Amino acid sequence: MASTRFHFRALLANVNPSPSRRELAKTLPGEVREWLAAHDFPTVFPHTRLTGSYARQVAVGEIKDVDVLLFVEEEEREQKPNSILIRIKKLLDEYPDTVLSDGQHRSVRLVFPAHDLHLDIVPAIAPESLDEPLEVPDRPTKTWIASDPLNYGERLSAENASHGMKLVPLIKLVKAWRDQNFAIRRPKSYVLEVIVFRAMTGGHLIWENCSTGQLLHGFFDHVAEKWKRLMDEGERSPKVRDPQLDNVISGSWERSHFETFMRRVREARTTAARALQAEETDDLDTAVEEWKSLFGDFWPTAEQVEELMTAQARDLQPGKARISSSGLVGGSAGVASRGTRYYGGRR
Ligand SMILES: Nc1ncnc2c1ncn2[C@@H]1O[C@H](COP(=O)(O)OP(=O)(O)OP(=O)(O)O)[C@@H](O)[C@H]1O
Ligand SMILES: [Mg+2]
Repeated sequence: MASTRFHFRALLANVNPSPSRRELAKTLPGEVREWLAAHDFPTVFPHTRLTGSYARQVAVGEIKDVDVLLFVEEEEREQKPNSILIRIKKLLDEYPDTVLSDGQHRSVRLVFPAHDLHLDIVPAIAPESLDEPLEVPDRPTKTWIASDPLNYGERLSAENASHGMKLVPLIKLVKAWRDQNFAIRRPKSYVLEVIVFRAMTGGHLIWENCSTGQLLHGFFDHVAEKWKRLMDEGERSPKVRDPQLDNVISGSWERSHFETFMRRVREARTTAARALQAEETDDLDTAVEEWKSLFGDFWPTAEQVEELMTAQARDLQPGKARISSSGLVGGSAGVASRGTRYYGGRR
């Protein structure tokens, strides 16, 4: 059977943010925190924490947005949430080489035009122990609401580990697919991440002894089936619930956007099935073309794939290894290939 496993390995490397963006995402929040401290803005332990996709290592492509929690005093709870947001904004108005942007529900957005990147700074009140949910301001409801991003981050790591380290890569690939296939009506990152999280942790996907392509096909198949009736006969969008707090996080998902999402999911399922079929019949070129149509710019070049294969060949059998035309690396001992059937989702 033809194998695309090196293609997927290279694809994952391509979707990862570049080291220079990762470095920026790491340094800028610390600088803002020091600046706030130097301007007598009181924060409490642990002062700041990265949150969002970057902190959970599920950011894809160029990082444009870094989410930062800013821990504020408990007394803030007595004030309307808008008050703290306005104070942070006023202070950061003086921050060099940045502009502030309006319209955030829970955060102050500090834009660094030179870097084409912004920080979303979310004030948070920490409970006695960080094992409990935080409270964050919510402008629309004018209240402090519960939010549990830190414990969700921990849980995601644990679930990733107990699912063969396949959950985080799957989230990244689904986000990369979203980025390449939705010029408009893009499903929101966190909602999409939670859909993947729930599919995997709910036991709806076969992830053991299967390739990345098989897992992806299983995911698209699961989503297509899960919301088939809602799509064909319903009038609403699905209620996606937060993994930690169980509240609905997809409230702003418009029906028309959901329908576009489902059409693309169905197309992706068909494409993935064709790719897997081509792999089974050793038609690597067709398989590669099919997968490439889902991942577009992120899909690796033949050179990138070859580089990975050659590196592995060198590691396995120094001096002896060769790369076969099917993409399998073989020395005298060879490399065992996987089973040849692909799996659908468990639904
Ligand atoms: N509807 C929501 N309900 C509760 N928490 C949310 C919701 N949307 C976002 N969040 C929290 O805020 C964080 C930042 O949101 P954001 O929209 O930046 O998504 P993200 O996961 O960081 O993805 P990316 O920035 O890569 O698009 C999320 O990671 C999540 O923890
Ligand atoms: Mg973000």
